[in-house]
Amino acid sequence: MIDEIIKVVKEAGLIMLQAQNIQGGVVSKEGRANFVTQYDVEVQHFLFDRLGKLYPTATFVGEEEETRNTSGEYCFIIDPIDGTTNFIMDYHHSAISVGLMYHGQMVAGVVYNPYLNELFHAERGTGAYLNGKQLKANDLPLAEGLVSIGTCPYYRDKADVTFALSRKLYDQALDIRRSGSAALDICYVAANRFVLYFELLLSPWDYAAASLILNEAGGRISTMEGKELPYTSGCSTIAATPTAFEEFFKLK
Ligand code: 2AM
Ligand code: CA
Repeated sequence: MIDEIIKVVKEAGLIMLQAQNIQGGVVSKEGRANFVTQYDVEVQHFLFDRLGKLYPTATFVGEEEETRNTSGEYCFIIDPIDGTTNFIMDYHHSAISVGLMYHGQMVAGVVYNPYLNELFHAERGTGAYLNGKQLKANDLPLAEGLVSIGTCPYYRDKADVTFALSRKLYDQALDIRRSGSAALDICYVAANRFVLYFELLLSPWDYAAASLILNEAGGRISTMEGKELPYTSGCSTIAATPTAFEEFFKLK
């Protein structure tokens, strides 16, 4: 079934690639730098429709239009476009994120960046893959890798804590990056592009699919208090190699 989900997600990617006049259709949501475009809504509709046909009894959680039904045995948790500000700014670093939960546990995840045609996927217990090639997170320490920071631009009150922590991480790591897509940041830890990523507040659709991908690649992910990520409400997130994960909790 994962192949069917991947096929649908790749088709949805074409909606992003063919988008025209993106800035003309931007609507602001609550908080600063929190936007939605007609394409976020269109991709979500497309995914709900096509995935609903594959799993007729599944319920859906999606970022747009207040869709929050987790009551099904199977439940999809979807961000139609993760990295919407990048999408609006034509920055070409955004992804479609589709997680599938079974009885409250993530069992499948697909994260797709159509600009690079990079598709990350995982099924519980069978490993994580990038374009079909298995991913294994190398256990590098902070000193040997890049750290990606999430800045919660829509909750500016978190900026001081974010940047103080970023400074500490910058002192330990090779350098800092800021990508604008939480789902891709987490997948990039799985793909050994980053050793660590953190953000003080995310929503389940930002990390649902990617959390399974990182776990299946051998990385670690939790809230910044070290608790398991919830899938029915938002929280802070730290994703890292096992060693960088330990280093992070000593640093704080
Ligand atoms: P988005 O682009 O789908 O909105 C950027 O810091 C990261 O946080 C992105 O993955 C972004 O997802 C996500 N994000 C944006 N607005 C958010 C909000 N109000 N609550 C939680 N996460 C958000
Ligand atoms: Ca989104």
